Amino acid sequence: MNHIVGNIDIKTERLLLRQLKESDLEGFFKIFSDPTVVKNYICEGLQSKESVKVFLHKTYEYSKENSCYFWVIEFNSKMIGFINLCDHVETFSRCEVGFCINEDYRGKGYASEALSGVLNFLTNIVGYNKVSAAHFKDNTASGNVMKKANMTYEGERKSEVFYQGKFIDCEYYYYLKDN
Ligand SMILES: CC(C)(COP(=O)(O)OP(=O)(O)OC[C@H]1O[C@@H](n2cnc3c(N)ncnc32)[C@H](O)[C@@H]1OP(=O)(O)O)[C@@H](O)C(=O)NCCC(=O)NCCS
Repeated sequence: MNHIVGNIDIKTERLLLRQLKESDLEGFFKIFSDPTVVKNYICEGLQSKESVKVFLHKTYEYSKENSCYFWVIEFNSKMIGFINLCDHVETFSRCEVGFCINEDYRGKGYASEALSGVLNFLTNIVGYNKVSAAHFKDNTASGNVMKKANMTYEGERKSEVFYQGKFIDCEYYYYLKDN
């Protein structure tokens, strides 16, 4: 594996995927306060500015280490979302990604464009063999993003996570290096 530490910027056709900055606090606060994000992305407890600040600080420190990738998605110099590595198993050369887009910027292809850039980076630059992504069963929007980014449906895992008081089934997609 060829992990990149420090400058992990990725440029896509319209987007810059970059490292966190302190000034991203407001953008993250808006995203984590959005009920559709709270429903579909595990971010319970991040609905105050103080908790988001602590989260961003920890994430920034953590992302200085090998194999911890967290990108802010920027369009026209504005923070519009994020995409990150949420799990990885180095021995098996596989990892998993998650993403969110600010509600004001949805439906314009930004999530799928960012995901395509990250899939390319993680397989062709870092060298992971397999990148997965998963969504809660009823979050079809997220499944459409994965399909649009050329990921393949793998299957459903029953009661995969316990979130907001209930067990939730998840749909899994994958992308292989030799896609
Ligand atoms: C899911 C999410 C990331 C989509 O972001 P986005 O930038 O609007 O997605 P894109 O514009 O790249 O859409 C890609 C495809 O998904 C489809 N899609 C997007 N939102 C959709 C929706 N609400 N319902 C159905 N399909 C949808 C688009 O139509 C597009 O397909 P098409 O080009 O064939 O029409 C965004 O709605 C979000 O952040 N939601 C809340 C958090 C979340 O669910 N995160 C993912 C957790 S797994």
